[in-house]
Amino acid sequence: MEKIKITKSETSKSKPTTDQLEFGRVFTDHMFIMDYSTEKGWHDPRIIPYQPLTLDPASIIFHYGQTVFEGLKAYLTPDEKVKLFRPEKNMKRLNRSNDRLCIPAIDETLALEAITTLVGLDKDWVPSAEGTSLYIRPFVIATEPYLGVAPSQNYQFIIILSPVGAYYKEGINPVKIAVENKFVRAVSGGTGEAKTAGNYASSLKAQELVADKGYAQVLWLDGVEKKYVEEVGSMNVFFKIDGEVITPALNGSILEGVTRSSVIDLLKHWNYPVSERRISMEEVFEAAKNGKLEEAFGSGTAAVISPIGELSWHGKNIEVNGGRTGKVAKQLYTTLTGIQTGKQADPFNWTIN
Ligand code: COI
Repeated sequence: MEKIKITKSETSKSKPTTDQLEFGRVFTDHMFIMDYSTEKGWHDPRIIPYQPLTLDPASIIFHYGQTVFEGLKAYLTPDEKVKLFRPEKNMKRLNRSNDRLCIPAIDETLALEAITTLVGLDKDWVPSAEGTSLYIRPFVIATEPYLGVAPSQNYQFIIILSPVGAYYKEGINPVKIAVENKFVRAVSGGTGEAKTAGNYASSLKAQELVADKGYAQVLWLDGVEKKYVEEVGSMNVFFKIDGEVITPALNGSILEGVTRSSVIDLLKHWNYPVSERRISMEEVFEAAKNGKLEEAFGSGTAAVISPIGELSWHGKNIEVNGGRTGKVAKQLYTTLTGIQTGKQADPFNWTIN
């Protein structure tokens, strides 16, 4: 494994105060970068001062979106140690996304070392207040200048860091969600299970249209029948119906969230009945009508757990749990953030120092 070369920044930027922390607007002093060429493979892993990139305007990334990304977080523990939450799962998914986008695989051990070295160097940027963390954004871009539609011969793998507060301004408070009946996020066989920019770009229109009506996000339905639930906003989704917690089964168009799988493991650990299966919007509304829809919430790295307080579908509105955060959502949020920040025991060995 090639050694990571480090060039330290001569100055340090000023850090945001806790009340200035938003999601993803401020970046730390350093970044990681590694190049790929067909002749040399992945090479020259290095940490350098945070700086703009210089790219040829014909780079494939700009035209055909050959790119993937990841998102994970570093947390400060009460004794000032820095912890990462299941980073190896993100690196595995990075390579699954790479494979789908015809991007050459990255050595996961090296990628993990890049993250720990970079976070170690910018450790002073990990915020300590409740609900804050250092968001880690690894990504790969296709840099070959070529306008033919073909996999690039050159890439860069980059990691940047951003001290963050809550992803939604609502925090752990319930959000209003509109079920999307026109646009779809992904179809099986498409790129829905890869973390690639196009999935997010194509989600903007639906999001923009409902935002005007006061909804925080849309609930995505399957791309074929527009019947079955897939995701909410950029998160996985869970429903608690009559005691059972249900999340859509991975079907090729749903992203396999690290928080999703941690939620499933925790619920099983607590002996809740959990199932990964198809769930239709009709079933959700029927359950609500019969007083059996107990909770609904999204799960993701950025927001951790985001309760759904209201759902709107074809002009019908339902309130979930009286518009309040449910018991399971709260328990999951507290436990996950407790484990992540080292304030709570980690029975699954999910965190690494
Ligand atoms: C997450 O929930 O972590 C996401 O995928 C959102 C991210 C694109 C900001």
